[in-house]
Amino acid sequence: MSDLFLPVILGTARPGRRSQRIAHAIVDMLERRGITTELIDVADVPLTATGRAAPSLERYRETAAAADGFVIVAPEYNHGYPGELKLLLDSEFAAYSRKPVGIVSVSSGLMGGARMAEQLKAVTTALRMIPVSPAVHVGRAAEALDDRGAFASSSLADVAERMLDELEWYAASLRTARTAA
Ligand SMILES: Cc1cc2nc3c(=O)[nH]c(=O)nc-3n(C[C@H](O)[C@H](O)[C@H](O)COP(=O)(O)O)c2cc1C
Repeated sequence: MSDLFLPVILGTARPGRRSQRIAHAIVDMLERRGITTELIDVADVPLTATGRAAPSLERYRETAAAADGFVIVAPEYNHGYPGELKLLLDSEFAAYSRKPVGIVSVSSGLMGGARMAEQLKAVTTALRMIPVSPAVHVGRAAEALDDRGAFASSSLADVAERMLDELEWYAASLRTARTAA
């Protein structure tokens, strides 16, 4: 049993978003590892471009401050990340510093949102997060999960487990280092 807290950010508010089921699959994988997690749904934190926000923003900031690291699950929209995800990420800064982030990109195409993931890597680095490898690129999102909501492809399940291994390692190591600093 780990005492890490690794929330999962679902980065799209689009009605009918397939990324939601992928985010739940990652939450399930974390829970099977005995890790405390929760889903942060970008749709629950309405934001405007000026940063004025609903009271739920305060809850987001507290969750980000308590987190030892993050997973971001986001779709690729026109080769980029959803605008609402950027607004959510930009609403905080200090709480991300020196914490790892695993990126899970989602698309209906074959490339699995890899272009979006590269852009998100640059953004999260600017926020002083540490993006871990490998990123998980989920293509053909409609067929990616089985009836139980787990990754249907063993290679995708394997890469997701390896990403979570790295995330756990960095989360534990960086927490120790932050505490000592
Ligand atoms: C506005 C918009 C732009 C999109 N652009 C891309 C894209 O650039 N590349 C891609 O592979 N799929 C693209 N898609 C399809 C998404 O990959 C697909 O909807 C997938 O299910 C993940 O997004 P979702 O979580 O919103 O369902 C786009 C979808 C929308 C709604």
